[in-house]
Amino acid sequence: VAQAPGCGLDRALVAPLVQSTTFVQHELGDGSCQHAYSRVSNPTVDHLESALGLLEDAPPAVCFSSGLAAESGLFTALLGAGDHVVVGQAIYGGTVRLLREIFARFGVSHTFVDSSDPLQVARAIGRSTRLIFLESPANPTMLLSDIQEISWIGRGAGVPVAVDNTFLTPVLQQPLELGADISVYSTTKFIDGHSLALGGAIVTRDTDLLDRLRFVRKSCGTIQTPYNAWLTSRGIKTLPLRLQRHSENALRVARWLKAQPCVTVVNYPGLDDFPQRDLAERLHRGGHGGVLSFELEGGLSAATEFLRHLQLFSLVEHVGSVESLVTHPVTMTHADVPDEQRLASGITPGLFRLSIGLEDAADLIDDLARAMEAVWGAGPDDNPHRVLQALATVPP
Ligand SMILES: Cc1ncc(COP(=O)(O)O)c(C=O)c1O
Repeated sequence: VAQAPGCGLDRALVAPLVQSTTFVQHELGDGSCQHAYSRVSNPTVDHLESALGLLEDAPPAVCFSSGLAAESGLFTALLGAGDHVVVGQAIYGGTVRLLREIFARFGVSHTFVDSSDPLQVARAIGRSTRLIFLESPANPTMLLSDIQEISWIGRGAGVPVAVDNTFLTPVLQQPLELGADISVYSTTKFIDGHSLALGGAIVTRDTDLLDRLRFVRKSCGTIQTPYNAWLTSRGIKTLPLRLQRHSENALRVARWLKAQPCVTVVNYPGLDDFPQRDLAERLHRGGHGGVLSFELEGGLSAATEFLRHLQLFSLVEHVGSVESLVTHPVTMTHADVPDEQRLASGITPGLFRLSIGLEDAADLIDDLARAMEAVWGAGPDDNPHRVLQALATVPP
């Protein structure tokens, strides 16, 4: 049907979903069709790849079945037995598991470092280091790595730098413009944005690496499905608008949380007293995204009770959706990370991660306030600074 003249598919406003697993060759050796088999390439996946590449002024991306499939593809393309990778220690738990439990078995070694200090990254680079892998902001502490300085260090050492940019997307942070060699995405999160499609992507201007990634993907069978690529392409159309709203809402919620007596820590790069505030302004473009984390006093039992009273926030292992979400990293996303590494990267048992959705910020604050009141009581706040701050920042 796609080839039938006048069928209109070539004029469809929305790029069509081509589910076909295979493509007809008119004769032996027919090289006229760009696609042969959808494990290798597919027109709908191509469409998403071009869009993701354009967002970073790069050639078409390579899309994988999930964010972790994209990371596996990258490690497989760049690393072999005897090679070493330097990794920021505050990082998604699945990335830690992938390196510790899978790639280590194949002879790939790694060193976790506090990548908020570029010197620690530099010191960890050895003769066999083939990759520096960062996540900034890191999941879930929001710790930032100076992508510009670490990219400069990587270039000097001849080691490529990859940045997992899942939380901010190219709309709010452009790793390649900041000097990194590779951007890594779980498109499952903000890029799809609707919790409907798993996916991952690697974006780079290194055409040799792009060829190797496509070869790995074809050999390992880890391409994204056309249906998920089609859904994700739809998500891209509203990405800037959504991220603007996610960022505005998150800032309002973060400021409000900061003023609550039962909240001991709030991690959000948009807060004036965020320890890496200047770096956040230098790296991010017009917003700091929808993810924040905070600590509650009263231990796990109070926190469990607090979660029970939330109505607008859903307890899930996910970020980046139009709905607001809450996660307990120690028992959920980071359960497989060894205790000492979790603590070293600031992931305490009392830490909660929020992914702020597109709802009205006042409703979200109301929901949090009601749940806190149910657990800690209304108790008058006698800290005048906090009261003034709360009055200044809570929406009418
Ligand atoms: C920052 C980050 N990178 C990568 C991943 C893995 O992505 P996926 O779940 O699509 O495999 C996640 C998943 O939560 C993540 O939060």
